[in-house]
Amino acid sequence: MFPTMFKSAYSHICVCLLISIVLAMNYSPGSTTAQEKHTPGVTIYDSKTDHPWNRLHRALFVRTGLKGEELGHDEIDPLLWPETKHLLTGRSHEDVLRSLDDFLKHDGSAEQIRDPLKRAILQHDLLSVFDWSAFLYNNRPSGTTVENPAPRQALQKRLAQAIHRLTLTSATIQALPDNYAMAIKSKAFRTAFDPDRAGQPFLPPDLFDPEGPWVCVRGPADFPNGPIASAHTTFFSGRSVFLVFMRLPGGRKETLAYLDKLSNFPSPWAIRKRKPSDLSRMELLELTPDLPQFPVGTQVALVRQMVLINEAGELVASRLTESIQLRVYRRIRTDPHEFQESEVRKNQSFFEFDLRRRDLFAGKNGGLRLVGDEEQAYTSLQFITGWADPFEAPKGEQPRHLMPVMKTCSACHSDSGIYSVNSYTQRSSERQKSDLALWPTTLEDEQQKVLKWKQKQYDWGLLRGLTAR
Ligand code: HEC
Repeated sequence: MFPTMFKSAYSHICVCLLISIVLAMNYSPGSTTAQEKHTPGVTIYDSKTDHPWNRLHRALFVRTGLKGEELGHDEIDPLLWPETKHLLTGRSHEDVLRSLDDFLKHDGSAEQIRDPLKRAILQHDLLSVFDWSAFLYNNRPSGTTVENPAPRQALQKRLAQAIHRLTLTSATIQALPDNYAMAIKSKAFRTAFDPDRAGQPFLPPDLFDPEGPWVCVRGPADFPNGPIASAHTTFFSGRSVFLVFMRLPGGRKETLAYLDKLSNFPSPWAIRKRKPSDLSRMELLELTPDLPQFPVGTQVALVRQMVLINEAGELVASRLTESIQLRVYRRIRTDPHEFQESEVRKNQSFFEFDLRRRDLFAGKNGGLRLVGDEEQAYTSLQFITGWADPFEAPKGEQPRHLMPVMKTCSACHSDSGIYSVNSYTQRSSERQKSDLALWPTTLEDEQQKVLKWKQKQYDWGLLRGLTAR
């Protein structure tokens, strides 16, 4: 096989390329964000804005935008970046400590909420903030000085206590509602893709059926213990399970036959032919143009599900679906590469559904909501926007974090057919890529891999240490 150096150079270049493509895309200003439409005050957990749970949620999630508007009320992830000072300094720090102390003080009182679903969601939200707070220790940019650790530790100590109070038994976690099934049952969404109406979103009812047309996939045998969605798992620090599914138009049998052919393909790599214009003298590997291709009509899905903590302090995968991203291939080109956004959107349809706590608690569509075509957001794009906090940058130097979510998909999934299936190509993975494969697996196996991965992370060790009696 090829020397390691070439492979890692390939992956490094790819990560940088993905980020720069997304940031360089020319976004036209979209409609107002879903986040801007909120009125002040949080009523997610209770109708009273001064309920301790609402106040805590507000302290953790709500940020003030550049025009004084409130943002982030019901986003899946808090608006926090690796370099964020919010929650660690000044008034926001005092507020969050006070809210956590109030929450801990009211534990056991009449104001405490017993509903396991609400407890699960708050527990998970606290874990998101905890993971963020521990992130810098793993990934501090080289050359930066060590900050005063006291405010971070004060926050972490209280977050750990609050998470501990919100743990649920494994049986309660297993009994939490299957909100994906609820979304299907609500009949709010179409259930199949209609090629004549390529922009019409749909939510497949048989996605999780182990005998159905969708096949849950894992990576090659050389990383049997690694989660398939390595980029997402790492970014979200394993507090959610990311599952990848594929479905060819002929259903399960055709999908399994294709996966077999693809994964047994002898050598997916070829040395790139150097063009005279290439500045680098390094030889780079790229995917061979001869990979087995799947047919038009193929669909892929990326599902994010919540990981929770049980009373014994162990990680448990839940059935709560936080998001679903879908892509449908309407055209497969013989040239594997396509960088024009408008062309990519002719080749594929992109859809995303996100969880809204408010809808989930109200029993509306299982809490799942379609992300609008023009909708802009901050959070989901933390995945690609780097470290700086857009709310804390000096005036005029704000990083471009607010983007139309659905227009970014094409930046990372631009190539033709299988060449745009990133969990196969491992395009933004730092993992050494000798083999590439997509094998059928079970949902349970993939869940276990993520839980094992999370157990090895610094943030999890820190949380365990802080809650140890
Ligand atoms: C910054 C790059 C990036 C952007 C933007 C992006 N994705 Fe992905 N996506 C990935 C990576 C990387 C994977 C592979 C899984 C992993 O390693 O976490 C992936 C996986 C997927 C998968 C599973 C099949 C596959 O390709 O592996 C689907 C479906 C998907 N993305 C849909 C979307 C949709 C819809 C959007 C837009 C809303 C989107 N993605 C935006 C990087 C991106």
